[in-house]
Amino acid sequence: MDTDPIDKSNSKRYPPVTGIGRDEHVGMVREIFATIPKRYDLLNHLLSLRRDLAWRRFAVRRMSFFNTFRFLDVATGTADLAIEAARLNPAIQVTGIDFVREMLEPGRQKITDRGLAGRIRLLQADAMTLPFPEGSFDAVGIAFGIRNMPDRLRALREMRRVLVPGGRLFVLEMTFPRNRFWQGFFNLYLNRLLPALARLLSEKPAAYHYLADSILHFPGPRAFMSLMEKAGFPNPERHSLTFGITALYIGRRPQD
Ligand SMILES: C[S@@+](CC[C@H](N)C(=O)[O-])C[C@H]1O[C@@H](n2cnc3c(N)ncnc32)[C@H](O)[C@@H]1O
Repeated sequence: MDTDPIDKSNSKRYPPVTGIGRDEHVGMVREIFATIPKRYDLLNHLLSLRRDLAWRRFAVRRMSFFNTFRFLDVATGTADLAIEAARLNPAIQVTGIDFVREMLEPGRQKITDRGLAGRIRLLQADAMTLPFPEGSFDAVGIAFGIRNMPDRLRALREMRRVLVPGGRLFVLEMTFPRNRFWQGFFNLYLNRLLPALARLLSEKPAAYHYLADSILHFPGPRAFMSLMEKAGFPNPERHSLTFGITALYIGRRPQD
């Protein structure tokens, strides 16, 4: 029996995230991100009408550095959040981690091109077991990464562990808007426009079905904030961005 959940052809779909186990989900995520890095930035900017850049900047502007002067970008992909954090905070050192080597390669190139190689390092690592001692960073960020992690509680607890007491976590994630009008529009966008554009521009359009599916199944604000509380971030903040299609969640690791 063929147990590989991943469609190797460009025309077939990935299985819905609700119908698969955690290991299968992680395997699928690894495969998807290993196959799309070449066009990832272009599609990201195009499909969000470049709002993704503004969303990352919005998060970075809220960060503060006061102890280690270090920032960790989890699921850094092509390193956009890491680069934005380094650009806006000249006094900090930045580390980006991602478990897909292929995503890190264009990120490394961008870092070198922008003259930031001395301040940003990228490592291949899994967000479930971060290779850093407790209390290593003043701020930790994760942009559009957590919905790809089936064990979100574990990911949140790991990010809390590596924060200094008083340090803050910044989670950017796309969500399904609450407003009825935008829901209809976003539905059309996710299920029609995005796959059509992906078919035109991506070598792996099927990956964009997964993107739509993973956004539709990401927990709503209340559920996600209670998960943050459970992970040890009391009273998290939430900022709704661009008609609610993206949210920034901020959690603070309390002083011990
Ligand atoms: C949608 S991309 C986001 C990339 C980047 N943060 C950005 O803002 O464009 C999601 C990334 O999460 C990474 N990822 C998913 N699960 C991971 C895990 N358990 N550990 C590390 N990286 C992970 C994927 O490899 C992929 O690069």
